[in-house]
Formats: sequence, structure tokens, C-alpha cells
Amino acid sequence: MTKRKILITSALPYANGPTHLGHMLEYIQTDIWSRFQKLRGHETYYVCADDAHGTPIMLNAQKQGITPEEMVKNVSIERQRDFADFNIEFDNYHSTHSEENRELSALIYKRLDAKGHIKKRTISQLFDPEKNIFLPDRFVTGTCPTCDAQDQNGDSCDACGATYSPTELKDPRSVMSGATPVLKDSEHFFFDLPAFESMLKEWLHSGSLQAEMANKLEEWFADGLQQWDISRDAPYFGFEIPGAPGKYFYVWLDAPIGYMASFKNLCDKKGLDFDAYWGEDSDAELYHFIGKDIIYFHSLFWPAMLDGAQFRKPTNVYAHGFVTVNGAKMSKSKGTFIKARTYLDHLDPEFLRYYFAAKLNSGITDLDLNLEDFAQRVNSDLVGKVVNIASRCAGFISKKFDGKMSENILEPELMSQFKSASDTIAQYYEQREYSRAIREIMALADKANQFIDAQAPWVLIKDEQTQGQAHDVCSAGLNMFKILMTYLKPVLPGMAANVEQFLNTQLTWESAQELLTGHSINKFKALMQRVDMDKVTQMLEESKESLEASNKPKLDPNSPLAKEPISEEIEFNDFAKVDLRVAKIAKAEHVEGAEKLLKLTLDLGGETRQVFAGIKSAYAPEDIEGKLTVMVANLKPRKMRFGMSEGMVLAAGPGGKEIYILNPDEGSEPGMRVM
Ligand code: 2FM
Ligand code: ZN
Repeated sequence: MTKRKILITSALPYANGPTHLGHMLEYIQTDIWSRFQKLRGHETYYVCADDAHGTPIMLNAQKQGITPEEMVKNVSIERQRDFADFNIEFDNYHSTHSEENRELSALIYKRLDAKGHIKKRTISQLFDPEKNIFLPDRFVTGTCPTCDAQDQNGDSCDACGATYSPTELKDPRSVMSGATPVLKDSEHFFFDLPAFESMLKEWLHSGSLQAEMANKLEEWFADGLQQWDISRDAPYFGFEIPGAPGKYFYVWLDAPIGYMASFKNLCDKKGLDFDAYWGEDSDAELYHFIGKDIIYFHSLFWPAMLDGAQFRKPTNVYAHGFVTVNGAKMSKSKGTFIKARTYLDHLDPEFLRYYFAAKLNSGITDLDLNLEDFAQRVNSDLVGKVVNIASRCAGFISKKFDGKMSENILEPELMSQFKSASDTIAQYYEQREYSRAIREIMALADKANQFIDAQAPWVLIKDEQTQGQAHDVCSAGLNMFKILMTYLKPVLPGMAANVEQFLNTQLTWESAQELLTGHSINKFKALMQRVDMDKVTQMLEESKESLEASNKPKLDPNSPLAKEPISEEIEFNDFAKVDLRVAKIAKAEHVEGAEKLLKLTLDLGGETRQVFAGIKSAYAPEDIEGKLTVMVANLKPRKMRFGMSEGMVLAAGPGGKEIYILNPDEGSEPGMRVM
């Protein structure tokens, strides 16, 4: 087999907000493919980076009161931890806010400009006059020009589905300040995409693009390609355009260049040849795994930019669909918007890797994470079938045969089926038809279990005469298990590592063809727990809670709520015990010798109560006499230095002059209960 040179990327996640299971589909899909290629012995690199630039990131950092650089760093640390804990094995993880990316973006821009592919013209855009910033479409809301629905987005209406430009909105408002945006002129830089139409058409037909992608491209060609606005005015978090002070590259210009930058960073660390992968006559393969929402950027702008700047184009761009949970779009209120970290706090990452693999194919249809099915599938396939083979065979080998497998190979015919499945399974992986690969593997697992059932080593072991047979059966079972785990290794790297330890051997794709005979193994330890539905439920609950927490507005540290947070939750019955009544302040008097207290006589409409209230610093008796207020009427009387206090009046404020007693609204009468 010739050794291929393969460079693989996943889309660069925005350094803005937590990783969730929607993200994980892509990284798991790509990681399986990358691990598969490595397992086959190809020179493979899988790189990624944070997509650090753009207006939303700049504003988010502002809101947090930190610099965008700081925010991007914080997010990156969490993000990389999430990926590592899902066993995503990048060869490099970098950032688009890096020197490599700054240099490569400038280089590509200059090359495009030198060839006349950058055009400049003045456009008119909505501008927030209070914040002094041009407003991206989604930072404008207003009334739909078509159906008059209020509070619609800057580019489309949720009520009637109309799409429009933000300048067409009625009563437009800036989301940032609420101000009415004004139109302002500014010079923008455009990438001349139409100049690449024939090249792109050729590229479309030369490779093996997914059918859905090819169709989309055809549609876009039919609609006519447009020049692409690649500049943004300051303030912007990004790279300043060389020779154009105050103008920045739009985030989507330098984002895909980030693939190159991350690889460049790896080359510098490892002494690899950058040009061998990105040079115009590179013989390496380059694959981008992306979501179906960003096909335009990757199949039109990106190849055109590369071509125009004398770099090679991608070998292929592989798009996938979105994740739904229990049949619906991930929803924050249902708790199905599940963060990677929340998942990891409750469940084994290999469960999700397996479930996604078992459902993934090469198309772009969405993938449903049905949580019942997820638990059932993982439990029956991995625990019930695969691990079961090992757990039924390992004990006898350890206990009865000193941890040594037999020299005999039983069932050569069945064994050869296991071995010869290698090519078919490899093909399925290569074509990203993981679900088919898994189906093949599980069919073999069924056969292994049937073989063990039929041989019943637990019976054979009881008789001296047949113990040798039991040894052969269990050894054959473990060999089948080893082959299955080799095929599953790209999907279940964590479990495969434990199996390597247990079987005392390395699992490589080729070694699936070699059987272990007379081989010593280590003690068998549980390889995988069952999915516990309670944990799944807890994960959903926690997803709801973490949303509630993140929805809480940030408090001004001087606000009353920040100074005194709301007390612990109580039951309604606890509250109902407190009998609050409207009371009329019949009389208010100074108390001799008391610095803080006024003596109040409260009329409950038939009964009166004497209450000493600490409100002297804020009220003179004559200010409050005759007013209505609210009192706690069933508070146990307390003996004070100046006499009995038979209740409490309700007041707010920190103290001193700032004490405000409650006044019930007009119409209420003394004695009425307050609920
Ligand atoms: O859609 C996104 O999340 C982008 N951050 C993907 C960028 S992919 C590449 F072009 F950088
Ligand atoms: Zn509308």
C-alpha cells in the first residue's frame, strides 16, 4: 500500500461560548477519519484552531470587561480540554489570532491584490451613532417591511419568512444601544469571486464532491456569483489590512487561512515541509470537514482565494448535517442544548463517539441523538455484544491457563471471515460511511457470540477431558475480539487502549490479519460500563439549570441584589405562616432615650398594636402619621427596653436616611391581609 500524505481539518470553532454536542458531531466525525488514516499507516495530520475574530467576539469581551485577546485565551483553554476529554486527537490546535495567520492572510491578500482580484468601492451601511460602530445585519432589529411584525432580525422575518436588507426595515434599532441607526458611507474591499467562475466549475467536476454540495454549487452558479465584501471598519477585532489603516479583514477572510496557519505552526514545531501540503503542485491530500451551513465559504470563496494566491485547492470538502436531540432542534428550555462539559460530567465520551459513528454516513442529513436509543444501542452493541465476548473468555484463560492463550486456531473459516472483512470495513471508513462499517463489525460480533454460545466453554471447562477445548474456544473468542477492537479503534480509542493493555499487544490495522497464539494476556478489567438512564436524565436537568444560571443578567456590584442576594427558596406554606396586614399608622411618637426608634400605634381596623420601629433616622413622626403601611401581624411580641413591640412594619433600604416604609395602594383598608 502506498503511503498517502493527508492533511485534515475541522471547521474552526468561534472562540465565543462553550462547546456543545452539535460541535462534537463534527470533531468526532473528523477524528474517526483521521485516526482511521493513521491506523492504516498514512502520514496524516489533523489540525484545528480557534476562530478568534469578528464583531460578536469583540462585543462579548467588552461585556465581560476583558480584552478580546483575554477572552479568546480563556475560551481556548476550556475548548481544548473539552476536545481532549472526548478523545479528539489533534496534531495541532492553534488560533486565527496568531502571527502565522497574520502573515499568511497578508500574503494571500497581497497576491490577490497584485493580480487585480481586490476591488474597492464605497457602500452605505447602517451605523450606530451612539456606539460609533457599523452594524452587522444581526445587530439591527425593527419592523418587517413585508408583514409589519415587530422586533424582527436585520436580514429576515421570523413571522412571514421574508428576507431583506437591514436598510429596508421599518423603525430600525441598534441591538447594541437601542439608537436609530443612520446610513453612513464607507469604502469597502471586495474579493472578485466572479473572476473564478470557470476555475470553480472545473474544480466542481474534477473531484468527487458530495452530490448535495455539487447541486448547491450549480444553483449558486445559476444565480450568478457576486463580489465578496472582505473588509470591516474599525472598531473590529481582527487583522488590519496591509496598507489600509482602519480597515480590517472580515473574520471569514482569515478564518480558513487559519487552517494553513495552524499547519504552519505545526511545521515549525516538527520540521515538516509546509509547501509539500499547500504548494501549488503539492501531491498531498487536503480535506476540510464542515457543517452544511458553511459550504459557500468552503466551496467557493476558499478554493478561489487559494487558486488566486497560488496555493493548492482542497482535495475535497466534506459537509455533514446538524445534530437534533430527541427529534427536535437542540433546545435550551428542554435541556437538550447539551454542553460538552455537561455531557462529560455524566457520561463516557466513548458512548457518544460510538452512537454518532453508528448513525453517520457521507451525506448531509441531520443526525438525531435520541437519548433512549442512545442508551439502548450502546448497551446492546458495546456492552452486550463486544465486551461480552472478552468477558466470557478472559476469566478462563487467566484462571485456568495461567493467562496464556492456546496454540491452536479453531474455526479457521470463521476466523478468515473476521480477517477478510478488513477491506470492506476500511472502504466504509474511507467513504465516511461509518454506520455501514459499524453494521459489519456488529454482524461479526454476533457471529463471535454465537460461536461461543455453541461451544459453551463454561461446560467444557468442567471436565478434565474437554478443558483443552475450552482453552481453544476462549482463545479463538479473544482473537475475534481483538480483530473487532482493531476495527473499532478509530471510534473507541479509549477502550482500544485498555484492550491493548489487557491483550498485551498493539492493535494496528495490519495486525488484524495476525492471530495471537501461545500469547500471554493481562488480567481482564471491566472495559465499559452500561449507559445509566438516570445519568442521562441528570445531564438534561443540569443542562436546564446551567442555562438558567447563564441567563441571569450580570449585576452591578453596587446594586441591592448584588449586595444582598435573594435568600434560599421556601415552600409556599412557609410564606403563608407570615400574616401580613394593612395597618394605619394611627400615631407616631418619639421615645425618650431611644436614638433610632419611633413608637407607632398601628390600627388594624378594630385592634391596635404597639410597634417600635427603627425608622427615626429617615422619618419624623408627623411625616407618617395617618399613612397606611404593611405590618407582620402575627410576630411573637418582643419585650424591648421601652416596652412591648407587637409586630413589625415593612420597610426597604440600607438604613440611615435611606429607609422607605411600604405603602399599600389606594383602596386597601386597615386589617386586609397581604398575600
Ligand atoms: O461557522 C463557524 O463556526 C466558523 N467559525 C467556521 C470557520 S471554518 C474556517 F473557515 F475557519
Ligand atoms: Zn414579516
